[in-house]
Amino acid sequence: MKTFIIGISGVTNGGKTTLAKNLQKHLPNCRVISQDDFFKPESEIEIDKNGFLQYDVLEALNMEKMMSTISCWMESPGPSLLSTDWETAEETPILIIEGFLLFNYRPLDAIWNRSYFLTIPYEECKRRRSTRVYEPPDPPGYFDGHVWPMYLKHRREIEDITWGIVYLDGTKSEGDLFSQVYEDLIHELAKQKCLQETA
Ligand SMILES: Nc1ncnc2c1ncn2[C@@H]1O[C@H](COP(=O)(O)OP(=O)(O)OP(=O)(O)O)[C@@H](O)[C@H]1O
Ligand SMILES: [Mg+2]
Repeated sequence: MKTFIIGISGVTNGGKTTLAKNLQKHLPNCRVISQDDFFKPESEIEIDKNGFLQYDVLEALNMEKMMSTISCWMESPGPSLLSTDWETAEETPILIIEGFLLFNYRPLDAIWNRSYFLTIPYEECKRRRSTRVYEPPDPPGYFDGHVWPMYLKHRREIEDITWGIVYLDGTKSEGDLFSQVYEDLIHELAKQKCLQETA
């Protein structure tokens, strides 16, 4: 069965989860996998010399578990067997994977049908992050001492990627971002369908 896999990555508080949820509401036969659900327990997270827990690195995530969740979906991507919505059942199954460290994780390189990366400036990111309460909560100095430097490092690492990441301005309104990406996806899905028919 032909599938369509979308990556939504970007800076912390860039709006990844919000965008993924908005898209899921409007795309038939669409499942979302969130990388944030695969953090290791706090006891397994490294601590640096400043006492900061090193959460914003690949080693903090159980990527093997995330990969097996993705593999499960790929083996059985259709709607539930109990679904009686036959119209939806005919649509290409779509998977959205959203998270802050997707394109730095090489085993996923070949999976993407479309990749997006949300950016927001430092000040806006710091402001949005300060309104959130994480578990465990960010200690004082954590944003400047860990979160932002790691983001800059990871962003540099993906600069050379050749498969064409679509960069999104995360300061646009939720609605504008949704419309931009939704239209782009409808276009990409139509392109895929066309290619399948001519193959
Ligand atoms: N387009 C937007 N404009 C303004 N604020 C937004 C926008 N999208 C999301 N937000 C707000 O920014 C915060 C972060 O949003 P969201 O949780 O979607 O981001 P995220 O990238 O998934 O963050 P995290 O790093 O925690 O995974 C939330 O308070 C949300 O309401
Ligand atoms: Mg999120």
